[in-house]
Amino acid sequence: MTSGPLALHRHGPETGLPLVLLHGFPLDSRMWDDVVTRLADLPVVTVDAPGFGGSPAPGAVAVAVGRDAEPSLETAADAVAATLRAAGVERAVVAGLSMGGYVLLALAERHRGLLAAVGLLDTKAEADPEEARANRLRVAEEAERTGADAVAGMVEAVLGETTLAERPEVVARMRAWLAQAPATGIAWAQRAMATRPTRLSALEDLEVPGLVLRGTEDTLSPQAAAQQMAQTLGGGAELVVVPRVGHMSALEDPDPVAQALRRLYESVAT
Ligand code: MLT
Repeated sequence: MTSGPLALHRHGPETGLPLVLLHGFPLDSRMWDDVVTRLADLPVVTVDAPGFGGSPAPGAVAVAVGRDAEPSLETAADAVAATLRAAGVERAVVAGLSMGGYVLLALAERHRGLLAAVGLLDTKAEADPEEARANRLRVAEEAERTGADAVAGMVEAVLGETTLAERPEVVARMRAWLAQAPATGIAWAQRAMATRPTRLSALEDLEVPGLVLRGTEDTLSPQAAAQQMAQTLGGGAELVVVPRVGHMSALEDPDPVAQALRRLYESVAT
């Protein structure tokens, strides 16, 4: 469904406070499929980031929300907010995984009235160090030259060692999705993530319930970053650590992720 600037997908009941799920890089809403199945009784909404899944190219999204063409998570957040409002959603529980978490932090800064509760999964609030930023810009250029090959090597970085050794179907799914990742989306998102500032302050006075979740084998989002977000959240947060899981918790072990999201949802929806 694309009545707003981004593709929005509804799952489950059509009424009630929505649970909005924002996906990681360089994937799309399919990343949430196994979690959505486990939350079939809740009104879940997934949204594809600019240039990914069913969403238009980032340039068109920027125009639709009145922003310049410079890649930024602020544009992504404005587009999520506009898409939700176009679908009649004024308030929602919003959870984001990794890049989805960065977009959620920008939403907390710019559209906090939308947020009834927040879930930050496999993500962090700090800006990148210089080396990581330079690497993102290199990957963006490579994607423009070679397409999805630029992200093929991410499998080993994002999946935990247990998944790599014991969950071949998850590894195969991840490889297939990476092979389908769109060049324009990859390049735009890497440049947008490279310029993101530290956004811990966006959580400081956010007086809504929170969830912070990470896998024990996640090498990209450290435990200290998760603890810091959980401690900073103005409304308090449950910190969930999922064993034997890497950076793609929702894909690697959807049961505990769905259970944690359900607890977050039920803390505000009756
Ligand atoms: C993601 O999973 O969204 C990415 O790992 C985010 C990032 O590159 O920081």
